[in-house]
Amino acid sequence: MDIVVSGIRPTGELHLGNYFGAVRNFLRMQHENQCFFFIADYHSLTTHPTPADLHGNVRRVLINYLAAGLDPEVSTLYIQSDVPEVTELYLLLNMNAYVGELQRVTSFKEKIRKHPDNVNAGLLTYPTLMAADIIIHRAHKVPVGKDQEQHLEMTRTFANRFNRMYGVDYFIEPAAYNFGADLVKIPGLDGSGKMGKSEGEGNALFLSDSPEVIKKKVMKAVSDSGPTEPNQPKPDAIQNLFTLMSVVSTPETLAFFEEKYDSCQIRYGDMKKQLADDIIAFTSPIREKMEAIGSDGNYLRKVVEAGAEKARASAAKTVREVREIIGFKAF
Ligand code: TRP
Repeated sequence: MDIVVSGIRPTGELHLGNYFGAVRNFLRMQHENQCFFFIADYHSLTTHPTPADLHGNVRRVLINYLAAGLDPEVSTLYIQSDVPEVTELYLLLNMNAYVGELQRVTSFKEKIRKHPDNVNAGLLTYPTLMAADIIIHRAHKVPVGKDQEQHLEMTRTFANRFNRMYGVDYFIEPAAYNFGADLVKIPGLDGSGKMGKSEGEGNALFLSDSPEVIKKKVMKAVSDSGPTEPNQPKPDAIQNLFTLMSVVSTPETLAFFEEKYDSCQIRYGDMKKQLADDIIAFTSPIREKMEAIGSDGNYLRKVVEAGAEKARASAAKTVREVREIIGFKAF
């Protein structure tokens, strides 16, 4: 069975775009591989969150993923900072990571441009920490989006360099886990591109949104006055509504509104009402689970402790072996 590692940024609530993108694939993946999922809270320190924000963000993301269906009995779900072995491997990898190559990383250059007042060493060495996250479990695969491909490439470079440097065949070169066609791109409600929380108020539908909020957002979604001729291609905003419907509604419901559209009889108010109902039916069990988990501190603590224990066992073994290879030997 392949070992898969994935880091999750501790940011905001999950929205439907995240769910039908990465999250649903995580749920599938966890049964086909030995998965390590962790919340990347060390990485998030590059942006200097307050202690309260840091803890709140980690907690929120943990609750979201558990409610969405990540099963801590099946995968190893942990918080990065609970596994300090990662920082030791990070230090060791940094000794063989060159400032020049780190400075050429696209995400670093972007950070310098956007936040010239906070170019910290953690940002520069973000790729070595990420490499440590991955190779500490000697992962075969890492699910990554386009924006993380270069980081994964650097992980391979660092793993190879270590092997070459010490004449060993120890670290495995991790490959990208490509979801391909399973990655459904979910559009937002503003008539333009994909769903995202930074695209403006009301564009994203969060798993934690109440039925009232969902109804309000969907009813306000951008549409138009309807087709004037039969069987016309759909404008982007309208196609977006149909795409959303295709993931949450039954095929019959979708076909019904397709037919109404093609025969110029569609009433977007009716379609949106149906869409809102189907989204609510889809998200309600997840939202209720979020509320239940969020008020069960005992459960959360148990999940986190068990995850840390499993992750540390795997990480400690690697660090022990790496120390030995490097020449830190017992007397
Ligand atoms: N850099 C990733 C992101 O921004 C998060 C991350 C940190 C990660 N460490 C990782 C992803 C290890 C995969 C593997 O989304």
